[in-house]
Amino acid sequence: MLRPYSIHLVAGARPNFMKVAPVVHALQARQGAAREAGIDLRFSIVHTGQHYDANMSDVFFRELGIPHPDRHLGVGSGSHAEQTARIMVAFEKVVLEDRPDLVVVVGDVNSTVACSLTAKKLGVRVAHVEAGLRSFDMGMPEEINRKLTDAISDLLFVTEESGLRNLRAEGVPGDRVFLVGNVMIDTLHRNVARISAKEFVPSDAVRESCGRGKRYAVLTLHRPSNVDTREALAPIWGAISEVARQLPVLFPVHPRTRGRIAEFGLDDTGFTMIDPIGYLDMLYSVKGAALVLTDSGGLQEETTALGVPCVTIRENTERPVTVEVGTNYLVGTRPEAILAAAREILSGGGKKGKVPPLWDGRAAERIVDVLLAHPPG
Ligand code: UD1
Repeated sequence: MLRPYSIHLVAGARPNFMKVAPVVHALQARQGAAREAGIDLRFSIVHTGQHYDANMSDVFFRELGIPHPDRHLGVGSGSHAEQTARIMVAFEKVVLEDRPDLVVVVGDVNSTVACSLTAKKLGVRVAHVEAGLRSFDMGMPEEINRKLTDAISDLLFVTEESGLRNLRAEGVPGDRVFLVGNVMIDTLHRNVARISAKEFVPSDAVRESCGRGKRYAVLTLHRPSNVDTREALAPIWGAISEVARQLPVLFPVHPRTRGRIAEFGLDDTGFTMIDPIGYLDMLYSVKGAALVLTDSGGLQEETTALGVPCVTIRENTERPVTVEVGTNYLVGTRPEAILAAAREILSGGGKKGKVPPLWDGRAAERIVDVLLAHPPG
């Protein structure tokens, strides 16, 4: 008699998809062995619909081989309260109907906190992938999401040592916490060979800027604190315009940011502004870049894994290992500091960096080992 073990995997926004993909693949790979051990291991993918544009969502499912979601909540955009509440109401129905044994959430977006809170209140165990990261900046919506999710999770999967320290300091019992490495880097490992292969053809927009022999920078900017006001965005834009005098800047623009640039009437000379791009195009662009400028969380990690210098335009990072061990420069938002780091890197003096422990492409396997060691009830 097989014991059922049903898992719901939640994904909602762009950075979630790269984190869910390797967990899906590791679960698929272990289903046979689990069956032999008497466990009927099943999983469903729940897409909250927080991100919905084809180039913010579908392209990742397609490129990363994530099965079509079993459930799509279709919540869309809104204020934080609206979006979080809509996800909770819709996800509650799913949990009541399906009664999973475990809900796995990833990252730090609104879908993460909304689904963990919903599951926990219905008595369903929660596992959080990418637990323990802290920017210590409660002005950041993601920091609130991280702290709340970790406070109620039953299994916490940590990417770097700082996560262990943070969770210990918050009183999370050690037997719930597992340092497993970084699932985002699992996805990177799996796909880096694909983009190096001859068959891979980047999109026209990317091919025009990147590729063998081309020297360029890649920029991403979407944090509300950096882009939502003219006072914040204009000085950053000015500094990057200076960088753009030295080399072309490829800028896949988040929909939030595109709106602000137009509203503030910023001059985009030297920038190649393109629509958001898929995972493979992004990996291809970043891998060949002389420099990445960003306020993203994931790119700080991906550049460290690839050994590409990264200038992080934020006052803090929840991923300190990328600065301490990797290629990341945390420079804040002052134009002089952004420029100084970019100049140091472009003149050849950038840090070389190392890959943090356990960022080896096998984090999801370790996660599934732990999940199987903690079966239901
Ligand atoms: C969200 C996450 C952030 C993550 C980012 C990656 C939260 C609190 N924030 O921020 O941590 O780094 O995703 O992109 O969860 N929009 C579209 N099409 C889409 C999705 C969004 O046009 O498919 C526009 C809408 O105008 C929307 C705005 O972008 O209001 C913001 O989207 P939202 O998901 O609320 O936040 P992000 O800024 O994307």
